[in-house]
Amino acid sequence: MRDLPPKPPSRPDKVSLWRYMRLFRRDILSAQPARLYRAWMAEFRTPFFRSYLLNQTDLVKTVLKERPDDFPKSERISEGLRPLLGDSVFLTNGERWKRQRRIIDPAFEGGRLRDTYPAMWAAGQQAVARLRLRAGHNVEIEEVTSHAAADVIFRTLFSVPIEDRMAQAVFREFRTYQRSQPLLNLAAFVPLPRWMPRFFSRQTKASARKIRALITQMTEARRAEIDAGTAPDDLATKIMTTPDPESGELFSVEEMVDQVAIFFLAGHETSASALAWALYLMARYPDWQEQVAQEARQLETGAFSEMSGLRISRDVFRETLRLYPPVPMMVRAASCPERFRDRDIAKGAQIVVSPWHLHRHERLWDDPDSFDPTRWETQNGKNCAREAFIPFSAGARVCPGAGFAMIEGPLLLSLLLRDFKVAVVDTPEPVAHLTVRSRTGIRLHVVERD
Ligand code: HEM
Repeated sequence: MRDLPPKPPSRPDKVSLWRYMRLFRRDILSAQPARLYRAWMAEFRTPFFRSYLLNQTDLVKTVLKERPDDFPKSERISEGLRPLLGDSVFLTNGERWKRQRRIIDPAFEGGRLRDTYPAMWAAGQQAVARLRLRAGHNVEIEEVTSHAAADVIFRTLFSVPIEDRMAQAVFREFRTYQRSQPLLNLAAFVPLPRWMPRFFSRQTKASARKIRALITQMTEARRAEIDAGTAPDDLATKIMTTPDPESGELFSVEEMVDQVAIFFLAGHETSASALAWALYLMARYPDWQEQVAQEARQLETGAFSEMSGLRISRDVFRETLRLYPPVPMMVRAASCPERFRDRDIAKGAQIVVSPWHLHRHERLWDDPDSFDPTRWETQNGKNCAREAFIPFSAGARVCPGAGFAMIEGPLLLSLLLRDFKVAVVDTPEPVAHLTVRSRTGIRLHVVERD
């Protein structure tokens, strides 16, 4: 029998709204019926709202690529993140969002990625050194990858390692924030009626305030260094010195704080999730682990050019992003009436694009639930890579960190497996928190490689 990696159970097709809400509170993935892996479009009706999940690739393209302005980010999904992220690029729409992207995008262009590579490499070396202290034990690997991904972000953004006092404080406080606000805002998929008041717990608000105070200090210090001509050439300096090509304005410190908060959150939560699942899959499929480890031997000098040799690691990482996309669903609002698949969609309806379902769609992918990094070489894999693979979204709102993440992920995977062997301890159950995580963590037995 084929050994398929873990997939959450689906709920029965018909359940009461009440039961749906309860399942939803528990986990957004297992609250869905199995038919979403076969349907081209599905409608969810409740007394308060209509949502439509789209799996038909041309409709996904319409929403994300062809007419993104007509499908803005749903206000409702923003609610849970607003205390922390303020008016960051992740939450804004319209002109404001466009201006923010014009300033941010140049920092992530190809050439700049090469400049950030030494910082990623250094973070990778530190992750290896930390893991060495725990070799011979069962290790909760999401913790390891969170630490490593946070280190990458601090080094590339602010040129400081995670051991830095401020970086440590931000990292710790983010964990508290996530614990107090653990689920990717439910209201996104199951929007509450507008009249219902929203409460953030006191702890959520307090920890958002603390994080923002720390980031403000770092950003103000950087502004002073830029003014004095002593700032390091990193992502923060690049973003804070790039004027909007249309208005000539720079980000104010306050606007920059919003952006740093999202870089930190979007950049480290997602990469940590993907890397943890990649390591789990390597433990589960040891033949692949050996191939990645073998290939990783060519990483010697820390030169950017070595990355081009990590072909297997990249295929493994992409296959991980397919099976466990860190951002499982994206929600948009229809800003005008639409007609999709002969159905009228009212203005204001929620449109859900689900990388989770699209990536495992039974009518699109060959053998969708199996782990097969060679699929990217097949015709089906190539077609699906273009049409049905959107771990970083697509179109105007595509993740600006996609190129960054596709270097960071394979690099850290390779550096860790070059020095360590990992083995399965138990089977994780995927659930959607802020990103796709395991319900009870991912434990792996780690030993040093000879
Ligand atoms: C494996 C790693 C990553 C994955 C899977 C990922 C995925 C995504 C996805 C799916 C979105 C779109 C969300 C939506 O439209 O609702 C997004 C947006 C974003 N990501 Fe990433 N991301 C990753 C890493 C990063 C990194 C490393 C950074 C920055 C250093 C970053 C910064 C952002 C920002 C700023 C946005 C908002 C863009 C906008 O709305 O215009 N991400 N990411």
